[in-house]
Amino acid sequence: MARILVTSALPYINGVKHLGNLAGSMLPADVYARFQRLRGHEVLAICATDEHGTPAELAAAAAGQDVRAYCDEQHGIQKSLGEAFALQWDWFGRTSRPQNAALTQHFAETLEASGLIAEVTERQVYSVDDARFLPDRYVEGTCPNCGYEKARGDQCDNCGKLLDPVDLIDPYSVISGSRNIEVRDTRHLQLRQSLMAEKLRAWVDAAQGWPALARSIAYKWLDEGLRDRTITRDLAWGVPVTKDGAPRPGFENKVFYVWFDAPIGYIAATREWADATGGDWERWWRTDKGAGDVSYVQFMGKDNVAFHTVSFPATLLGSQEPWKTVDKLKAFNWLTWYGGKFSTSSKRGVFMDQALELLPADYWRWYLTAYGPEGADAQFTWEHFQGAINTDLANVLGNFVNRITKFGASRFDGKIPDGGEPGEHEAWLEAELDARLKTIAAHYDAMEFRKAGAETRALWAAGNEYLTRAEPWVKFKTDPQAAALGVRTGINLAVIAAIIAQPVIPQAAAAILDAIGVPKANRTWPSGSAKDLLDALPRGHAFAAPPILFAKIEDDAVAQWTERFGGSVS
Ligand code: MF3
Ligand code: ZN
Repeated sequence: MARILVTSALPYINGVKHLGNLAGSMLPADVYARFQRLRGHEVLAICATDEHGTPAELAAAAAGQDVRAYCDEQHGIQKSLGEAFALQWDWFGRTSRPQNAALTQHFAETLEASGLIAEVTERQVYSVDDARFLPDRYVEGTCPNCGYEKARGDQCDNCGKLLDPVDLIDPYSVISGSRNIEVRDTRHLQLRQSLMAEKLRAWVDAAQGWPALARSIAYKWLDEGLRDRTITRDLAWGVPVTKDGAPRPGFENKVFYVWFDAPIGYIAATREWADATGGDWERWWRTDKGAGDVSYVQFMGKDNVAFHTVSFPATLLGSQEPWKTVDKLKAFNWLTWYGGKFSTSSKRGVFMDQALELLPADYWRWYLTAYGPEGADAQFTWEHFQGAINTDLANVLGNFVNRITKFGASRFDGKIPDGGEPGEHEAWLEAELDARLKTIAAHYDAMEFRKAGAETRALWAAGNEYLTRAEPWVKFKTDPQAAALGVRTGINLAVIAAIIAQPVIPQAAAAILDAIGVPKANRTWPSGSAKDLLDALPRGHAFAAPPILFAKIEDDAVAQWTERFGGSVS
């Protein structure tokens, strides 16, 4: 049994997340964690809301709320939406909790003691009319790289280049729109990443479990030369800056940069979990306290990769303390809305709360996993979604389970029948199962979710194919023994089909397994020969047909949703 630590990139607190956010980190992290639990491994799955910095301040201001009150409310909303989507975190924490402040301050002080933090004077954008410094996203202007006129202070959305706000041409304040902007001196803490370049490169070189996308992004940053990075900001909302446990003189109005404290939130949320449950957080995070044999897997969108392969490791490695670092990393591309961007600010696309008004979680979970933005961007359209659901869930899985359980319930009195000897159809099915069960598990282990989805669907399809070959309803009149065998095999196959579906569609899978009366303890990942698996339920075992599993998405629903959400980018 292995021990596996799973984290999902921490969703920003600024409002309900859209389906792209869900598909690009939280959902695959949950699917992976569920799979590994089914395999019998010890899994700790951690997520949290990322609550600090300008995104939170801006969103709170827009909502006319105090920032803490805003975060309290939004955390509650995101937590319950996560539960409604069946995201099974061991803990869903908050970076605004004291555990994160304490750890963030600890890391900064430890890094400083190692000579990796310098106090520097920086020149930063100051808005005279707002009477404050304008960090990152509070300032926009013309991109010095491509000339785009609405580039954000930290990054140009047009060309993607990371920017320093003082380099913006013709800057203006996002708060007031004022162009009465000066560049003034301010004191800040700088993390001297340049001193860690070799150590980080050696660490990346040694990394085994990263896909090509993650490696190339990490090397790109290392090759460009690691720049020292300012880790404090002139802001009120965030982790206060300390020295020797007391407020740091001259930094009373400053906090740590949100990207410094957010990934530390993975550890802090684990401490929240430990504080609440009596768990041992160090066993997961300190290699001197038992975390040496933990396999740590991170899920994130591709825009987060540099922070996880360079910045956060710089914090962990720079501390010289024995922290667990990431072993495997899975990065996702974008889910697009008809080829354009899902957008929180322009409310374009479908958001988690709206999605659940339309359909149960499993429909979305299936689509976003089996057709997710893996390897390349994936396009969401209502028509594609409709096709996938109607084919995979309604026609293939739903139809198979429905046919065999209904027939068995009515003709065999809802009891697993005895009789019949496995023959050529069963041999065919065994071969199918032996091969597919192995491949599905291998795809999940490799975090290849689309492939795991395709193989899962193929196994469900084998269910329908088996029924076509064995045709128990025809045999019922001519050869009752063969019909009994077909029903027994078919119901056992429905159990397997549901068991392997649990990581992706846990609610429908549970409905099937409950109806067939499979005890919870017997719902772990199938092991043993296909022959035994297809004869696992005891003869005489009582089963029923589950309620309708999936309703087809009709054309008029698609028409309605297109009307409500738009069916194009404009
Ligand atoms: N909130 C960030 C985003 O949505 C992700 C933060 S990941 C963490 O892009 F590691 F910093 F927490
Ligand atoms: Zn640009």
